[in-house]
Amino acid sequence: MDPLLRASDLVVEYNIGRSTTRALQGVSIDVYPSGYKLGVVGESGSGKTTLGLSMMDLIEPPGRIVGGQLEYGKKNLLEMSPEEVRRFRWREVAMVFQSAMNAFSPVKRTADHIVEVITERSETPKAEAREKALSLLSEVGIQGEHADDFPHELSGGMKQRAMIAMALALSPKLLIADEPTSALDVVVQKQILFLLKREVSRLGLSLVFITHDLPLLRGLVDDVAVMFAGEVVEKGPVSRVLNGPMHPYTEQLVSSLLTLDTDTKASEITSFDFSKEAAAEGCRYRLRCKYAFERCRHERPLLKKREGDVYVACHKYDESTA
Ligand SMILES: Nc1ncnc2c1ncn2[C@@H]1O[C@H](COP(=O)(O)OP(=O)(O)OP(=O)(O)O)[C@@H](O)[C@H]1O
Ligand code: SF4
Ligand SMILES: [Mg+2]
Repeated sequence: MDPLLRASDLVVEYNIGRSTTRALQGVSIDVYPSGYKLGVVGESGSGKTTLGLSMMDLIEPPGRIVGGQLEYGKKNLLEMSPEEVRRFRWREVAMVFQSAMNAFSPVKRTADHIVEVITERSETPKAEAREKALSLLSEVGIQGEHADDFPHELSGGMKQRAMIAMALALSPKLLIADEPTSALDVVVQKQILFLLKREVSRLGLSLVFITHDLPLLRGLVDDVAVMFAGEVVEKGPVSRVLNGPMHPYTEQLVSSLLTLDTDTKASEITSFDFSKEAAAEGCRYRLRCKYAFERCRHERPLLKKREGDVYVACHKYDESTA
């Protein structure tokens, strides 16, 4: 099947003063149409949000896409005119942002945000757009006068619901949800996940679900891409990756899930300097890797097909050298 959205070898940098952070270091990802669901998992700073924003063509200064390709169907996203970009965002690909601050203006009522998304990007008259906004908000559980609350008057869960309604306003084909439940308590988290799943399957959308919480993805997505220091280090069907992680980092992610509830000692959870890892020559994971060997010090491993549909970037699996 042809992908709906394809990122090939994507490189994104943020420049602040003289310092440059390479947030994506050559990421390739395919997202398929009509109901395909991809999870993106990785620790803080691994580049998940940067990847999500890139997929919406929303990288803004001090960030910049400095390499690679982004295609949506047959269109090259990186060569679209501002008008084409305006029509693409929200209508084709929409995003539930990690922080409500990025999506809502504090001085505008909740329903008005959705009315604006609709009227600015379609020919819909304002009254009709308001009706649609109220119906979308009611669909996600925000009824009556709450539709006209200011965002700060809504609880965290309600804000997420409103953001989902806004993302669905123009019937996009792909929804990117960036940690939509991470700031919520467990009960509300479940409600929001249920709502997302229901809407995505009702509308037949494709989904990119970004999280640092690997187990959340079981039963939610088809495939998962594991990110580390701006790279995808493992990619494959979610149950396969959860049940038999191949990359040492995924292995660590899965095993820490198993031990956190029991008796992991604080001393075993070491913190690492991410910028050192991102700048490291060779494999970026090598400073933490218990399997590291000589080749890992100077040669960067590429993402290669290993078993079935699982892709892994690790020298350990190259028979000739491991
Ligand atoms: N606007 C920005 N300006 C400067 N650096 C940035 C900016 N946004 C991201 N970065 C840097 O890019 C890298 C990747 O950040 P990103 O937000 O994509 O990670 P993330 O995986 O989403 O993290 P988190 O789990 O904390 O949300 C980090 O080193 C971060 O500091
Ligand atoms: S390439 Fe080497 S250092 Fe990197 S994850 Fe594999 S074994 Fe570990
Ligand atoms: Mg993020």
